[in-house]
Amino acid sequence: MRVTIFGTGYVGLVTGTCLAEVGHHVVCVDIDTAKIEGLRNGVIPIYEPGLEPMVKANFAEGRLEFTTDAAAAIAHGDVIFIAVGTPPDEDGSADLQYVLAVAKTIGTHLQRPAVVVDKSTVPVGTADKVRATIAAAMAARGADVAYDVVSNPEFLKEGAAVEDCMRPDRIVIGADSAVAIEKLKRLYAPFNRNHERIVVMDVRSAELTKYAANAMLATKISFMNEIANIAEKVGADVEMVRQGIGSDPRIGWHFIYPGAGYGGSCFPKDVQALARTAQQYGYRAELLDAVESVNHRQKEHLFELIVRHYGDEAALRGKTFAVWGLAFKPNTDDMREASSRTLLRLLWEAGATVRAFDPEAAHEAGRIFGERSDLTLCEHASDALQGADALVVVTEWKQFRSPDFAKLKVALKDAAVFDGRNLYDPAEIEAAGLAYYGIGRGR
Ligand code: UGA
Repeated sequence: MRVTIFGTGYVGLVTGTCLAEVGHHVVCVDIDTAKIEGLRNGVIPIYEPGLEPMVKANFAEGRLEFTTDAAAAIAHGDVIFIAVGTPPDEDGSADLQYVLAVAKTIGTHLQRPAVVVDKSTVPVGTADKVRATIAAAMAARGADVAYDVVSNPEFLKEGAAVEDCMRPDRIVIGADSAVAIEKLKRLYAPFNRNHERIVVMDVRSAELTKYAANAMLATKISFMNEIANIAEKVGADVEMVRQGIGSDPRIGWHFIYPGAGYGGSCFPKDVQALARTAQQYGYRAELLDAVESVNHRQKEHLFELIVRHYGDEAALRGKTFAVWGLAFKPNTDDMREASSRTLLRLLWEAGATVRAFDPEAAHEAGRIFGERSDLTLCEHASDALQGADALVVVTEWKQFRSPDFAKLKVALKDAAVFDGRNLYDPAEIEAAGLAYYGIGRGR
C-alpha cells in the first residue's frame, strides 16, 4: 500500500520504517529540511536499537522516501498518518497546533480519497477537530474529496520501538467507517500474525485507550514508589515487598519497580493531559493528580537520601558526585523529563560538582546543560569516579549492574553509593565497606 507519514520524530520514523520493512511504499514528510536531508544521507536523528540499518536498507530499496514536499507526499498516500509532536501546553494539556497544521495541509492538497490516521497521542475529541480542519481547508478551495479520520494510537517503548512495532501486542483502530477499517486491517496484516491483535472500536474510545494505558502504567510506578517510601519509614525492604506481590497475576511483575521516578516524553505529559481533559469535562481526576505529585516528589528522593547521609545540605558544598546514567531509561539518549535532571539541578543548587557518564546521552546532556564548570561529561563509567566523593546511579544501563565494589571503595572518597534503581545487593556493598542507600530499602 502507499503510505504517507507526517512527522519524522520517534513515532513517525519508526512506524514509517517498519511499514516499509514489510513491503509498503512509505513517504515520510517533515518541515525540518536539515532532518530530511540527513535522513536521505543515512543520518538517523535518534538512537533506537535496530532502526538505523532498517532505515538505510529500505531507503536504498526505494520503499522508504523522505521529503519536505507536503503536496507530493499527500498525492502519494492511500493512508496518511499524522505523527507530529503534541507537546504540553502551559496548563499541561496537549498542544494540538502541529497536528491541526498537518490537517490543514491535507485539506489544502488532497486530490483523491484517503484515510487520515491520528497516530500522535492526542486528547479525546481530536479526531473531530482534525476532520473539521480538513473540511474547512477543502471548502476554502471549493473541493470535495472523500476522506476518513481514524485514531490509531501507538504503544512503542523507547529503546524497544522497532521490536514493539514489528511485533505489537495489540493494534487499536478507532474508526466509524467500514472502508477505513478494511484499509487499516490490510495495512497492518503483516504484523497481525499468529493471533488476532487488531482491536476495532469507536474513535473516542481509541483516543482514550492510549491515555488509559499510559496512565495505568504510570500509576503502577507511582504506587510502588509510594510503597517504597513507606517501606523506608517503617524499616522494610520494598524489593522484598515487590517479590512478595508480583507473582499475583492480577498485579504482575511488570512496572512495579520503584526508582527515582518516571520520566520520558510520554508518562509525565500524558498523565497531565488526561487530568486536564477530565477537568475540561468537569471531572476532577484525583488519582491522576496524585500519580503526578508522587512522581514529582520521587524525582527529588535521591537528593534527599544524599542529604540524609551527609547530615544537611550545606555539607554538599564542594563535594563531587559521580553520576551514572542521564537518560530517562536505558537504551535511549532521551533525557526528556529524566530524573537525572532534577538530581543535577538540586546538586548544583547545593554547591556540588557532577562527573556524569551515560553510554548514549552525553551529547544530549551537553546540548541541554551547555558548558558549565560544575559538570564534566565523562567517556567511561570509571572516569566519572575520578576524584568523586560518592556515586549516584540514576539509570539502570546493563553495564552498571555489577561494578567492582572493591574498586568503588578505593575510588570514592566518602565511600557511599546511592542506588536510584535498586540495582545492587545492599549486603554485598556494605561488605565492601561502602555505605549503601537504595529506594525503599530502609537504608
Ligand atoms: C511508554 C509506554 O511504556 C509505552 O507503552 C508507550 O507507547 C509510550 O510510553 C508512549 O506513549 O509513546 P516509554 O516512555 O518509552 O514508553 O518508557 P517506559 O519503558 O514505559 O518507561 C517510562 C519511565 O518509567 C522510565 O523513566 C522508567 O525508568 C520508569 N519505570 C518503568 C519505573 O520507574 N519503574 C518501572 O517499573 C517501569
